[in-house]
Amino acid sequence: MRIRPETEADRAEIRKVNEEAFGRAVEADLVDAIRASDRFVPELSLVATVEEDVVGHVLLSYVEIEPGAHPVLQLGPLAVLPSHQRRGIGSALVIEAVRATEARAEPLILIEGNPRYYERFGFRRSDESGIEAPVGVDQQYFMVRPLTAYDPALRGRAVYSEPFLN
Ligand SMILES: CC(C)(COP(=O)(O)OP(=O)(O)OC[C@H]1O[C@@H](n2cnc3c(N)ncnc32)[C@H](O)[C@@H]1OP(=O)(O)O)[C@@H](O)C(=O)NCCC(=O)NCCS
Repeated sequence: MRIRPETEADRAEIRKVNEEAFGRAVEADLVDAIRASDRFVPELSLVATVEEDVVGHVLLSYVEIEPGAHPVLQLGPLAVLPSHQRRGIGSALVIEAVRATEARAEPLILIEGNPRYYERFGFRRSDESGIEAPVGVDQQYFMVRPLTAYDPALRGRAVYSEPFLN
């Protein structure tokens, strides 16, 4: 298994991985909408490949913290093909996503997801660090992963970008 940034040639396979993992098109559509937006960071859209086939995908994109409209990275969606789950691929994608974000000297990563899965990677409830979940998102599923450049003054409400709101 290899992890690398996506290329244009991966786009159809990334759609398929998201559709199969989630059993619907919502997350695949979200990935395409993020990619088409100014919040997309090409080097932070990562694929996991096995013998050149894409079997997993994750991306980070910019959302904001209000007040101040401070741009911060949000992780997700994360998807692994059902046939390849429970082999550590999802974990490897999250660990590489955190490493690559750390390398950009970003202060933190936000995520909306299941704490039972993400706590093992150092994510914790965001409101414990003064960051409120976006309007309409259940706070118990909204988490933050502070990085080396974490700044506790970065507080307020997370505000999703346009692609997440459709
Ligand atoms: C969540 C997902 C990415 C995990 O990928 P994976 O390659 O199977 O993950 P790993 O093999 O690295 O880790 C498996 C571990 O995750 C746990 N896990 C998997 N899905 C989980 C979930 N939805 N909630 C809690 N724990 C979960 C398993 O129990 C397992 O833990 P264990 O090793 O202690 O038994 C994958 O199951 C998936 O694509 N699911 C559907 C889409 C989804 O829910 N994405 C996440 C929300 S954005």
